[in-house]
Amino acid sequence: MERENFGNRFGVLVAMAGSAIGLGNLWRFPYLVGSYGGAAFVFVYIFCVFLLCLPIFMSEVIVGRRSHANAYGAFKKLAPGTKWKWLGAVSVVTPIIVVSYYSVVGGWSVEYFFKALTLEFTAGATQAEMGTMFGRFISSVWAPITGHTIFLLLTAFIIIAGVKSGIEKFGKVMMPLLFVLIIFIAVRAATLPGAGEGLKYLFQPDFSKIDASVCAAALGQAFFSLSLGVGTILTYGSYVSRNENIIASSTYTATADFLFAMLASCAIMPAVFAFGLNPQEGPGLVFETLPFIFANMPLGWLVAILFFLALIVAALTSSISLYEVGVAYLVEERKFSRRGASVLVFLIAWVLGILCSLSFGPLSDLHIFGQTIFNFFDKLSANVLMPVGGLLLVIFVGWVMKKADVLDEMTNGGSLPGNRRISGFIYFLIRYICPLAVAAVFLSALIF
Ligand code: PFF
Repeated sequence: MERENFGNRFGVLVAMAGSAIGLGNLWRFPYLVGSYGGAAFVFVYIFCVFLLCLPIFMSEVIVGRRSHANAYGAFKKLAPGTKWKWLGAVSVVTPIIVVSYYSVVGGWSVEYFFKALTLEFTAGATQAEMGTMFGRFISSVWAPITGHTIFLLLTAFIIIAGVKSGIEKFGKVMMPLLFVLIIFIAVRAATLPGAGEGLKYLFQPDFSKIDASVCAAALGQAFFSLSLGVGTILTYGSYVSRNENIIASSTYTATADFLFAMLASCAIMPAVFAFGLNPQEGPGLVFETLPFIFANMPLGWLVAILFFLALIVAALTSSISLYEVGVAYLVEERKFSRRGASVLVFLIAWVLGILCSLSFGPLSDLHIFGQTIFNFFDKLSANVLMPVGGLLLVIFVGWVMKKADVLDEMTNGGSLPGNRRISGFIYFLIRYICPLAVAAVFLSALIF
């Protein structure tokens, strides 16, 4: 059977940016900025994204396009008869773990979208009331499981439709919409009285705040936001056609992802400051602090609907990329039909997701290595599997693949003169700087 490819450059860009831009940008990035000192965190983050993670992103695309195979098949093809296929195997399992808890938070977004539609964020509500509402919701049994199920079903439908008519088509409509929504919300927030303090917090760095923990958090977030180390970019890379410019598409994706994270912060921080709230609210920022702000600002009901719609769309384009890894593997290596593979991945992620969801309520006493199931999945993937996966992947590209092959992918056989000039530098980053920096930050996070 012929493998599908993305149709054109815009298709590649929306699919990859769709994977990158997600809950990580709208939910995780703003609360990390708040917890790690504002602009200083942003400053370190920029280095992490463009100097360290962008070359790793390119490396994943290179492995995908060179092999034109799924995450497991890619290593079997490029390094036959070696143990590297185990990295491929881990790269197939990790995204299924991530999608299971990711779709639980996707489900919360679905619920909050309906709450916004039915005007449940009522004027006069206090922040504490919103906190209680959220706590009660996530610790209940049926409502969050329903949201998780709806979200995962939506993901499955897009995947079943295929690479071109599902993933690419959905991205082409939804990604531009997402940017329009977030720009609208950011403009609304930035024009609130007192919003200036929030913008200052985002753009005026206090360099004394930078320490090892800020660096570790920034690198971890850059990994998460660019979807690295879990086989998704590799799998999408395998659908990129031979004449596509890998360096350009990867750079556009990282730039779009960064801009979106900043826009999301511009939508959130000014509002937080305008209402005199604490930016260090942590993970509750989006589901507790924001609903309170929406309830109490002019036109807040509309902004709430648009915000939670944006959250669902952003989360969906990311979860389809996670889902596709397992499906591509099952179809190509285990000869499943696309539909059969989608059903199997759905069932696994659905059951695991239910356990994650229940770990906020009835299963909250069940601990794995001292963590609830949700936190264990989150920490295992974001702090261990992703960085280690990304580290091994750059080592593979920098030290196992032939240099000529890597440069060939970066320059399309030497036919892109602009890329020829910078490919040596990027190769240097891939071979030396990225592995050393990622290993150092990973180890320091383990030690401290
Ligand atoms: N990059 C996504 C986000 O920022 O929400 C999360 C993600 C998607 C992580 C896909 C990993 C992945 F493979």
